[in-house]
Amino acid sequence: MKNNDRKSIENAFRLIESNDIERIEIGTTKGLVQIHHYLFDGLYDFAGKIRTVNISKGGFRFANALYLNEILIKIEQMPENSFEEIISKYVEMNIAHPFMEGNGRAMRIWLDLILKSRLKNLVNWQYVDKSLYLQAMERSPINDLELRTLLSQNLTEEIENREVIFKGIEQSYYYEGYKKEDNDD
Ligand SMILES: Nc1ncnc2c1ncn2[C@@H]1O[C@H](COP(=O)(O)OP(=O)(O)O)[C@@H](O)[C@H]1O
Ligand SMILES: [Mg+2]
Repeated sequence: MKNNDRKSIENAFRLIESNDIERIEIGTTKGLVQIHHYLFDGLYDFAGKIRTVNISKGGFRFANALYLNEILIKIEQMPENSFEEIISKYVEMNIAHPFMEGNGRAMRIWLDLILKSRLKNLVNWQYVDKSLYLQAMERSPINDLELRTLLSQNLTEEIENREVIFKGIEQSYYYEGYKKEDNDD
């Protein structure tokens, strides 16, 4: 793992360990910006900054930068009354993809904060298979059934279990190509 990537995962662990996570706003754009800033401050010059250029992945164009701020206001107003509504909100936030990089890692923490406060549940990411998850995310702008099914099968009520949370963070970094053991930089 490169130095910067190790710093970011350490920031993620510290966010939990220090209880700074309790100061993050839940379900809002501001909350997501706070998380992004926390994970990437000093590592990316755009830490906590909404992008101003257009980006795409796997042929999918994320929200047009010109309308991003308006879209983000709409998304944060989306309801969070059920698992289905929370997943819809997460999918819309992924379509917005507000940052140049680090959307996946920041947004999974953002999602878990909503699930925890509304449903007293978390995603047990350590058991969510990488390729199934990434396939479901690619599919989600068209249909979120696959993602809903995958995540609903991997919810846990162990919301205060640090091992569950830390394993989840490791898995989240693994989805994005970072592996904790590769300490060669
Ligand atoms: N083709 C796609 N369509 C929609 N979402 C995607 C696609 N490919 C990847 N994603 C989502 O984007 C995330 C990666 O975004 P990125 O900004 O690179 O985050 P990170 O830097 O944390 O890797 C993935 O975890 C997945 O949730
Ligand atoms: Mg990435």
